Amino acid sequence: MSEEIIKGFSALSKEEKLQFVVRRLSNPNEKEQLFHESMFKDEKLRNSFLELSENSIGSYHIPYSIAPNFLVDGKVYHVPMVTEESSVVAAAAWSAKFWADRGGFNIENITTTKLGHVYFLWKENPLDLTGNWPYLRFLLLERIKPHIASMESRGGGVLSLELENLTYSMPNLFRVNVEFETVDSMGANFINSCLEEVSQELKLYYATNLTENGESSIEVIMAILSNYTDGCVVTISASCKVSELDNIAKGTSGADLARRIQLAYEIAKVDVYRATTHNKGIMNGIDAVLIATGNDFRAVEAGAHAFAAATGRYSSLSKCTITNDTITIRLTIPLALGTVGGIINIHPFAKISLELLGNPSSKELMKIVASVGLASNFAAVKSLVTSGIQQGHMKMHLTNILTSLGADDKTKEAAVLYFEDKKVSYAAVKEFLASQK
Ligand code: MEV
Repeated sequence: MSEEIIKGFSALSKEEKLQFVVRRLSNPNEKEQLFHESMFKDEKLRNSFLELSENSIGSYHIPYSIAPNFLVDGKVYHVPMVTEESSVVAAAAWSAKFWADRGGFNIENITTTKLGHVYFLWKENPLDLTGNWPYLRFLLLERIKPHIASMESRGGGVLSLELENLTYSMPNLFRVNVEFETVDSMGANFINSCLEEVSQELKLYYATNLTENGESSIEVIMAILSNYTDGCVVTISASCKVSELDNIAKGTSGADLARRIQLAYEIAKVDVYRATTHNKGIMNGIDAVLIATGNDFRAVEAGAHAFAAATGRYSSLSKCTITNDTITIRLTIPLALGTVGGIINIHPFAKISLELLGNPSSKELMKIVASVGLASNFAAVKSLVTSGIQQGHMKMHLTNILTSLGADDKTKEAAVLYFEDKKVSYAAVKEFLASQK
């Protein structure tokens, strides 16, 4: 069914928008009630939450879970994770405990520089522009001074501002590269505001500069931060003796398990099909913590996958080595995060998550998030090279299937017992339910 184009939807009241939606659904009264029940009861909270996005009419629920026992740089964290995917939290929690008993996750390197760019076309001799750059650069820095004062008082600000000639990739194209330190804020608004000041000043400076044809010699195209945050990167690792992997998988020695795990990491290094899925297993953990702490997971996803392709060939973000009977897993990933500002000030659960983590700095949060990513990755790979993921996954999924088929609590308990030593599938669960009638 195709709908008709509607005009002025955004001007409708919240209630009108809700009516617009439920009128299109079966059992509209029931659905309307569901939408109402999806929201916070407290009016102030409900309104500030709904105002986060345009045309909002309700709240979409995703489970809020805890993966306990992450030992990161000698400190223990019980980590909030928001995800709907069965097994992700259980796997992260298993891995957290496994590594906590073996020294935990340790930081090897961390950088926090964020980047933004102003793209413009220069339609005259490039030498006119580059020759003028030292003075123009001074003017641009002067222009943004008032906008960075508050950030500077918090220890951040602009680290560098340089001109780059990109005419080798596109005729007339130049870019102003600005490096920022935004301390504990993700800094998107701060960065974009500074960049827009830079582009205004560029336009102003060349306002009367015309080419022979009478057109402006400069055309500013856009000013925007980059989500390719290769200056904001954390490297985290965990290691243990291969003998400490004994008894993890039935019938497999620690040495053999370590060998198989390493092989799986090597495959992800060289094969794009596996690398993508391998990295998805990392992002399973990372996104869940980002959502729980009010961070922009789309930005991190975009940056992480670009980073995975930094050599020109998409590869795995994590690696595994075995030397002197010690297995080491290591993850290097760009994570531009914030622990103040943005939705953190508004979303009560983002605040709760950060409090649970001890109100970390953004640097500390980078370490925690990377650890959860590496933990999730290790748990997935360990399962893949031993029992396969379906065993654990389908056991978790069993509850979802039972719920979707309308099983009551008693039947669910019976099903869990029944499927303890059997393969879970939708058809098998349906058959089991039929046998219970
Ligand atoms: C499923 O969400 C994630 C995995 O596919 C990751 C992996 O294959 O490493 C299990």
